Amino acid sequence: MEKTRIFITRKIHESGINLLKQAGYEVIVYQKNKVIPKKELYAAAKNADALLCLLTDKIDKEFLDANTHLKVIANYAVGFDNVDISYATQKKILITNTPGVLTEAVAEHTFALMFTITRKIVEADSYLRKGKYKSFEPLGFLGPELKGKILGIIGTGRIGYSVAVRAVKGLGMKLIYNDVQRNESLERDASGEFATVDELLKKSDIISIHVPLLPETRHLINAKKLKLMKKTAYLINTARGPIVDEKALVSSLQKKQIAGAALDVYEFEPKLSAGLAKLSNVVITPHIASATIEARSAMSNLAAQGIIDVLNGKVPANVVNKEVFRR
Ligand code: DGY
Repeated sequence: MEKTRIFITRKIHESGINLLKQAGYEVIVYQKNKVIPKKELYAAAKNADALLCLLTDKIDKEFLDANTHLKVIANYAVGFDNVDISYATQKKILITNTPGVLTEAVAEHTFALMFTITRKIVEADSYLRKGKYKSFEPLGFLGPELKGKILGIIGTGRIGYSVAVRAVKGLGMKLIYNDVQRNESLERDASGEFATVDELLKKSDIISIHVPLLPETRHLINAKKLKLMKKTAYLINTARGPIVDEKALVSSLQKKQIAGAALDVYEFEPKLSAGLAKLSNVVITPHIASATIEARSAMSNLAAQGIIDVLNGKVPANVVNKEVFRR
């Protein structure tokens, strides 16, 4: 009898691969260190029983129509905007994701970006390397202290919540937040004040985005919204690129309408909008917010476990489209 075959679209932490192998499956991993080309993805998925894919793989109608035999698609990410969830549900294909295990990693990276942009770490590092540092400079590289400053969190799910609580309890920042509904535990745990997006943009010194990419959040931060921000404020995005109109952001940064931005995600990822990389009031990292050893290995395990559960007739912990069970 042929073994159940799992196809993984990129090399990931071996822990999850080992779990799948120990469960007795044949595991095939795309070996090149790049996004798998569409043709190869389709060919490999055709011969698999389950797929473990990345946020860079387009799991759209066309893919799902061509692969209705897949029992489960495990998306190695908490976000799943790369997957047409409602169509997968129609096709009765279960989709899983990896929430929870990357919360701390992304929250920590948010602070890394926050410190790096406000304290001009990248600029200062490059200044020193270029041999420009001649003596202690009382007025060099001045940036704001975070204590007492207002942090505006947009989206208070696991990651937004973790950033908010650490900022208030660890750094002494003040919190305002926006979400689709009031978050009473955040109000209790971090004295968070609910605000509309516009109010939040007007009042905050640092704004950090933690909402998923949905039709309603695409370009949530556009030219009009950027104009509401203080001249001294910073924008941080570790969520998804298209939530910010990147062209408008570049223009706002060029005109110094805001103090700076720190980004881990991009509207046209992996491409950067024209002018972005030239700006000194910007810090850019290549979608690494979840890149801790702990988070990436746990994501690997969680994605693998989801597949094992489905193939054993169990309901996995993180099904995105539970409606499949009702069909
Ligand atoms: C996610 O999980 O959605 C992140 O963007 C990558 O880990």
